Order: sequence, then C-alpha cells, then structure tokens
Amino acid sequence: MHVLVTGGGGYIGLELCRQLLERGDSVRVVDRFFFGDGPLRELAERSGGRLTYVAGDVRDLNESWLDGIDGVSHLAGLSNDPTAEYNPDANWQMNAVATERLAQGCVRAGVRRFVFGSSASLYDGIGPGMFDERTEVRPRGAYSISKKYAEDALLRLSGESFAPTILRQGTVYGWSPRMRFDLVVNTFLKDAVTAGKLYLHGGGWQWRPLVDVSDVARAHVVCLGAPLGAVRGEIYNVMEENYQVRQLAMLVAGSLSLRGRTVTLEEAPLPKLVRDYRMSNLKMTQRLGFTPALTVLESIDLMLGKLPLDDVGFLTNPRWYNIAWMSVLEEVHASQRAFPSIY
Ligand SMILES: NC(=O)c1ccc[n+]([C@@H]2O[C@H](COP(=O)([O-])OP(=O)(O)OC[C@H]3O[C@@H](n4cnc5c(N)ncnc54)[C@H](O)[C@@H]3O)[C@@H](O)[C@H]2O)c1
Repeated sequence: MHVLVTGGGGYIGLELCRQLLERGDSVRVVDRFFFGDGPLRELAERSGGRLTYVAGDVRDLNESWLDGIDGVSHLAGLSNDPTAEYNPDANWQMNAVATERLAQGCVRAGVRRFVFGSSASLYDGIGPGMFDERTEVRPRGAYSISKKYAEDALLRLSGESFAPTILRQGTVYGWSPRMRFDLVVNTFLKDAVTAGKLYLHGGGWQWRPLVDVSDVARAHVVCLGAPLGAVRGEIYNVMEENYQVRQLAMLVAGSLSLRGRTVTLEEAPLPKLVRDYRMSNLKMTQRLGFTPALTVLESIDLMLGKLPLDDVGFLTNPRWYNIAWMSVLEEVHASQRAFPSIY
C-alpha cells in the first residue's frame, strides 16, 4: 500500500511511519517540520527508498502529494490546547480548514481511505460519566472545536467514493524518536527524574483516557487495512485505559523507586484549564478486533530503558514541549523579521 502520512515527522507520525515500513508499505510524508526532520531522515535512509518526505504546510494543499496514494493518515496540525490557544486563527486554518481541504482533495483524486487523528478531548466538559462514540460532544477550547469541525467535515464527505475514519485518540504516552514531554505520563516521568517531585493539581483526581504511542500508530495501521465497510464514516475511540492523574503519578514514582530513585508527591492548586473525562474503547475492540498492547506501567519501563536519564539538558530541551518550542521559534523569527509569525 502507498500511504501519505501528514505530520509524519511528529511524535505519533514517526512511529506510524516505522510500522508502515515494517509491514512493507511505501510512505510519503508531508510535514511542516516544526520540530525538525532529524528522526524522519534517519528512518528514510534505512527504508531503501520506501519512505520519502516533502516539507510542506497542509494549509497549502498540493494535489501532487496524493499521486499514487491508496490511503492517508492525517496527523499534521497543532496538537494540543496551549499551542492552539496561542494562535487560534492558525489553529483553525491548520486543524479545521486544511483537514476539510485535504479530504476534498482525496475525493477528487479518488483516494478513499482517510484516517484522521482526532482527539478524546472532545469528551471534556460534558460532566461525569463514561463516554462512547454516540455521546453528543460539546467541545469548549479552540483545539477541540477545530477537531470537531474537521470530524463533521469528513463525515459529510463520507460515501461510496470516500471512506473517512475518525480516531478519537486518548492522551498518548511512551517513547518515540521525536519525544513529547508535555503529555501527562511523559511529563511526570521527566519531572520525577529531573526534580524528584510530582505535583498533583487539585489532588490529581481527574480522569484521562490514555494510550501508548505504538498502539495509536497501530490503530491507524488497522484502519488503513480494514474492510471499507467497517471504517467508512466511523468514529473509534482509541485508548488502553482510563486513569486518574493521581494514579499515574504513583505509577511513575513506584517505577522509579524500583530503580533506587526517590520521588515525592505533593498536592498543588488546580490550574485554570483542567481536563477530566473518561471514555470507552469497546467499539474498536468489538468491530475491528483492536486491543491496545502496552499499559502505562510497561511503557514507563520502556521509556526508563531508552531515555538518557542523567542528561538533564536533553530531558528539559524545549524542543520536546510544543508550546515552549513554538515560543522559541516565534522569538527567533520575530528577531530576524523573516516572517510575521511562525504559525
Ligand atoms: N499526542 C497526543 O496525546 C494526541 C492525542 C490526541 C490527538 N492527537 C493528534 O494527533 C496528531 C499528531 O499528534 P503528535 O502528538 O504526533 O503531535 P506532534 O506535534 O508531535 O506532531 C505534529 C506534526 O505535524 C506537523 N505540523 C504541524 N502543523 C503543520 C502544518 N500546518 N502543515 C504540515 N505539518 C504540520 C508538525 O511539524 C509535527 O511534526 C495531531 O493532530 C494531534 O492533534 C495527539
């Protein structure tokens, strides 16, 4: 299969590219490369020519990206609340409008398979409960509102000649060659290693659905290869389990104490933005036979084995924190007067 992965230079995208190559597919990546192209370049060099990439912005659709493509995994865009709130207009153009245009391009090009990396944060703000794909969502922030617009646009285009699949991905954890330390488990791990202390805001009682990066990538692979009837116009929640933030801190602290490191947990005031929601992953298991493989505990152990734990400079590099890195890029561009904005 020939797959276009947008955002293939990112945290999830790199693992997805690796899995697609492993099963024999050819991969074309389009990415704005906000975080650099180093890990993707290495993957391309090892791919025997089966992975190629283009530096491009999904807001400027180039129809040639779709030449010879059988399926698209669409991951490009601003990937969290802080970066979306920082520039809501850019977020809207990237996450909402560009997704719709890319899908329209697929319809014109006859590319039927389209898997969209949406977000479980759509379930936030509804209230207590366990939510599934039939729940009426009421997104609040710029990020989730844009994801909902994109979902609706894809579902409107769904039909005989276009079979979009929406994956509402839980908060991701785990190791990728392009790390993110701004996701709850990974942040706790970094803080535990570098500061020996974890803060539980509001006691850390909030619920979050979570999933390992390799399982999210595998969910994309499964949808790209599933019978069209099982994925056309379908929404699937993707997560391993719902956890309370307090529980995650204990799992990280316990894992480190097994390695002889002391980590203390301390309560702290609630921040302004608090996410608290749970969801069910039953539909994807029942319909597609997809079961996530890696628990938080297993993934923490893998990360502890792979990360340079004594290299504080690496662990605290702003490149691994999306909003911190985007702020650095903004400053550089502003000082060079090269562009009015990096966004
Ligand atoms: N990581 C999570 O916990 C999580 C959870 C739910 C949904 N998602 C969604 O999954 C997708 C991938 O997330 P990630 O964690 O890999 O994020 P990431 O920030 O690591 O990767 C996003 C990639 O998209 C690229 N990109 C951004 N804007 C672009 C544009 N306009 N044109 C072309 N490329 C652009 C970036 O350069 C980056 O390589 C995102 O759409 C995100 O919203 C992520």
